[in-house]
Amino acid sequence: MVGIRAAMHDDMEALERIVGTLFPKSNFTFGANELYFLATQRKSIIGFSHLRILGHGQRGVVAGLGVLPPYRKRGIGTLLLQAALAYFEEIGCMEIVLKVKPENLATEIYAKHGFAVRKAGPQSLLLCKAENS
Ligand SMILES: CC(C)(COP(=O)(O)OP(=O)(O)OC[C@H]1O[C@@H](n2cnc3c(N)ncnc32)[C@H](O)[C@@H]1OP(=O)(O)O)[C@@H](O)C(=O)NCCC(=O)NCCS
Repeated sequence: MVGIRAAMHDDMEALERIVGTLFPKSNFTFGANELYFLATQRKSIIGFSHLRILGHGQRGVVAGLGVLPPYRKRGIGTLLLQAALAYFEEIGCMEIVLKVKPENLATEIYAKHGFAVRKAGPQSLLLCKAENS
C-alpha cells in the first residue's frame, strides 16, 4: 500500500537519493521555507513532491514532483500533488506556481488541477493556479 506523508529529518539521505535519481541536474535543497511530501511503499520512498513557500506564505511553488518509473501511472503523482495543494491551501497561499518543460506530459496532471499557463517560453512554461481555481 502507498502512503503519503511529510518528510522528516531522518528521510534526508533517502530523499536526496531519489531527487538525484529523478532530477540529476537539480541541486537538492531542504531549506527553512521548503517541505517535501513523500510517497512510500513498505518504508521505501517511491516518489515526492517538493514545496517552497515564498513571500510570507502568500505564494507556493511546486518545485518538484517525481515518481520512480515502476510506480508511475497509478495515481501516485496525483496524490503527491494533491498533498502539496492541500498544504498550500491550509497555510493560506493566494497563488501557486511551477515551471515545466512544454513537452512534459506532466502538464496534463497540472491542467487537471486548475493550473493555467501564465508565461510560455521555448524552454519552459510558467503555470499558475490562483486560490479557489
Ligand atoms: C509526472 C509524474 C510525477 C506523474 O506521476 P504518476 O504517478 O505517473 O502520475 P499519475 O498516475 O497520478 O497520473 C496523473 C496524470 O498525469 C498525466 N500523465 C502522467 N504520466 C503520463 C504519461 N506517461 N503519459 C500521459 N499522461 C501522463 C495523466 O494526465 C495522468 O492522469 P490519468 O491517469 O487520469 O491519465 C511522473 O511521470 C514523473 O515522475 N515524471 C518524471 C519527472 C517529471 O517530469 N516531473 C514533473 C516535472 S515538473
